[in-house]
Amino acid sequence: MDLALDSSTIIYLDNAATTFPKPKEVLEAALDAYTRFGVNPGRSGYDLCLMASELVETTRKELTRFFGGAHPERLVFAYNATDALNVAIQGILESGDHVVTTTIEHNSVIRPLNHMARERGVSVKYVPVGNDGFVDPAEITRRLRRNTKLVAVNHGSNVIGTIQPVAEIGKACRDRGVLFLVDASQTAGVVPIDVEGMGIDVLAFTGHKSLLAPTGIGGLYVREGVGIRPTRFGGTGVNSVNPYHLEEYPYRLEAGTGNVLGIAGLHFAQAYIAKRGMENIYRHEMELFGRLQGGLAATEGVTLHGTTSLENRLPVLSFTLAGRDPADVGTMLDVDHNIAARTGLQCAPLIHRQMGTGERGTVRLSVGPLNKESDIEAVLAAVAEIAADANV
Ligand code: ALA
Repeated sequence: MDLALDSSTIIYLDNAATTFPKPKEVLEAALDAYTRFGVNPGRSGYDLCLMASELVETTRKELTRFFGGAHPERLVFAYNATDALNVAIQGILESGDHVVTTTIEHNSVIRPLNHMARERGVSVKYVPVGNDGFVDPAEITRRLRRNTKLVAVNHGSNVIGTIQPVAEIGKACRDRGVLFLVDASQTAGVVPIDVEGMGIDVLAFTGHKSLLAPTGIGGLYVREGVGIRPTRFGGTGVNSVNPYHLEEYPYRLEAGTGNVLGIAGLHFAQAYIAKRGMENIYRHEMELFGRLQGGLAATEGVTLHGTTSLENRLPVLSFTLAGRDPADVGTMLDVDHNIAARTGLQCAPLIHRQMGTGERGTVRLSVGPLNKESDIEAVLAAVAEIAADANV
């Protein structure tokens, strides 16, 4: 592996895995903050510690506002969305509970739920999404039972980009007194989220995708009144004499030293997103995506999976190529064309099974805020060349 590889020569279309590159000004500002006061926040009273604490608490407030929340202390940091989803799922469910979720979930929801089913006697219903990749809120409502404690839904698919009608599902859950957990891994930072307006009880997010922070930071926003049992205990820097973990937020769901560099990234990325405008970022990505999807649809041998509508959509698509294994297409894109894509099941096996791609998966392309028109033209030319070779 050549760690001196010049990444500027790579055409990066794997932004659903992580956005790359991150805006330079975000990384530079975060590194500068970490260089100047990257100490352990909330543990001491010296100036550097107060500066680090101030950064953490300011970012908590910014993200709470960004997600339409009302209580910054209920925005808790975690390592990533998977970690946050585990905190929520393992902290909410108890033996005998029923959960309704969908076939478009990522393994970060499927696996914790399956463990809760196997080891704790929780029952789980996977509601199939339609062939277009959208879940019908009425199908969720129909599956609610007397003992349904939680509905868990992926806001935006990492496989085919569909954005689910979470406000409608949230209303149905609220009317029936069922908790609503939303996995916003792919949407946070690029699609508006309003936890109060959308009836979301628990929102899980990661920092390193459209929130444009480094990897290793994510979190939950937990609405007031929602009970999450802590499943991790340890140091908080507060009330050290207490033999038990603190009950109050944010300490309740945070234990040990947090990711200060990651939180700095979130903070400076909030400024970047505000300056550029979230709707402008989304429009930019979707314009490129429209060209990408249209070009692929017109390429002989290409099958696009899921909806081709640009409505309620993230700039993420999955395709297969006649006569070619998706993994081989990924390798050819990489080796012959310097294009980064993700192939296989993208950690979401149920939607692949439903689409008939459960064996070999697909080639996934995902557009990010720093992609250019030339990236799209390059990938279209590369796929056309690979398709032509496959058809000879
Ligand atoms: N969940 C990430 C993806 O879809 C890693 O690639």
